[in-house]
Amino acid sequence: MIKGVAFDAYGTLFDVYSVLQKCEEAYPGSGGKISQLWRQKQLEYSWLRTLMGRYETFWHITEDALRFTLDTLGLDYDASRIDDILKAYFELDTYPDVLEALELLRPRPAVILTNGNVSMLDQLVANSSLDGHLDGILSADTVKLFKPRPEVYQLAVSHLALAPHEILFVSSNSWDVTGAKSFGFTVGWINRQNQPVEHLDAPPDYTVSSLLELAQAIEAEDGHSPERS
Ligand code: LAC
Repeated sequence: MIKGVAFDAYGTLFDVYSVLQKCEEAYPGSGGKISQLWRQKQLEYSWLRTLMGRYETFWHITEDALRFTLDTLGLDYDASRIDDILKAYFELDTYPDVLEALELLRPRPAVILTNGNVSMLDQLVANSSLDGHLDGILSADTVKLFKPRPEVYQLAVSHLALAPHEILFVSSNSWDVTGAKSFGFTVGWINRQNQPVEHLDAPPDYTVSSLLELAQAIEAEDGHSPERS
């Protein structure tokens, strides 16, 4: 039975590609290319820094990934333009079905479990409709490693005081889904782009196209009120 929920943030609760508008304003005609390459490089840097043992905050690597992206596309920038574009990470769009899904999953405790440092998420959540609807923000910054390292997923087990299989981990990122399943969570994959499952021997327990669909599936199986042991 699911007794707690941990959500990935970027791409799952918040649309990372909603930075596109800010990028398009700054570089007309290149917004789409920038937002796609920026996200991919941000993730690559999180994996590389973890493998190398050279941790920097997600905010730091998000800025580095933006600089790499603009260099790659041959786009000029200065510090103030970088800072202006980075601000988009504090105003990402929240997916429209998040609040309804959260309500369906209640009274289970629900936290964010993210690579983002707390200051990034504090501002983003405060600017969003989710403010006051979550029970905590757990950041990889606590352990100075990034997902899919198990030490990051362990933060949710310790915080919620539940066994891994009692926690529903929710992500739209297939690599994160794989890491979470390998760790031992019950995993829901929000597969909005209808991607194929990763060939990494750790398929998710649920594959759905929206957060609401996942919440409905859990409610149908477990009902509303898990008695916490
Ligand atoms: C997060 C990014 C990696 O951890 O999606 O929120």
